[in-house]
Amino acid sequence: MNRSTKSRLTVKQLSWFPGNTLFEKIGRSVCRVGTLPGKELFEAWEVARRVRRKFRGGRVIDLACGHGLLAHIMLLLDDTSPEALAVDRHLPENAHRLSEALIESWPRLRQRIRYVQADIKTVEFASSDLIMSVHACGTLTDTVLQKAVEAGARVAVLPCCHDLERCDTGGLGGWLDGPTAVDVTRAARLRAQGYQVMTRRIPAEITPKNRLLMGQPENGWLSDTQTHNF
Ligand SMILES: C[S@@+](CC[C@H](N)C(=O)[O-])C[C@H]1O[C@@H](n2cnc3c(N)ncnc32)[C@H](O)[C@@H]1O
Repeated sequence: MNRSTKSRLTVKQLSWFPGNTLFEKIGRSVCRVGTLPGKELFEAWEVARRVRRKFRGGRVIDLACGHGLLAHIMLLLDDTSPEALAVDRHLPENAHRLSEALIESWPRLRQRIRYVQADIKTVEFASSDLIMSVHACGTLTDTVLQKAVEAGARVAVLPCCHDLERCDTGGLGGWLDGPTAVDVTRAARLRAQGYQVMTRRIPAEITPKNRLLMGQPENGWLSDTQTHNF
């Protein structure tokens, strides 16, 4: 199994997901649709399970969502989130097919996931939302973080494509490589904005852009410190 593959998962990869865990069942649904690049499944799963260990409930907002798989997995891992919004400027043609297949397997998701084709700058958030983005390129991750802070909402991002011309390295370029300096500066800024910051990594074999940054307002509406085993 190559967890970093950018090739689409198809019925040929069904044998990668032989068992009865939730992940394997999701994997088989994804393979049958035949539209999703492999690494997107593994990234979404690894991010979702880490975030759910920290953040329960709330409307899930999957920004720059691509196919929107993350939104679906987040609801599957925690049914107390009433709904999810999956937002992308250009939704892939097959996003709805993937969603329909997942809903067929998990009917409880029906009418709880809404796709919105829009620029993330135009979306309104509530403080109770859980705002997420996997691989929002360059400064788009900063926009996601800023929108979350403005709303006072919990946030989780897995940044990518660090744009060292436009992203803030915080003057740390003498000690840290550029992308790390950008992410450290993001974490420090979030903390200065009144957030409790948590950092994790997803396995590097899936993607080298594997730093997961999570934050919740220090005095937020939800401060769930329980840990959950996914
Ligand atoms: C690298 S892809 C990530 C997709 C998905 N989150 C994933 O991990 O597979 C970046 C996505 O951001 C979307 N995007 C870029 N700028 C955007 C914007 N301003 N508002 C909404 N979506 C945007 C693109 O259309 C693209 O689908």
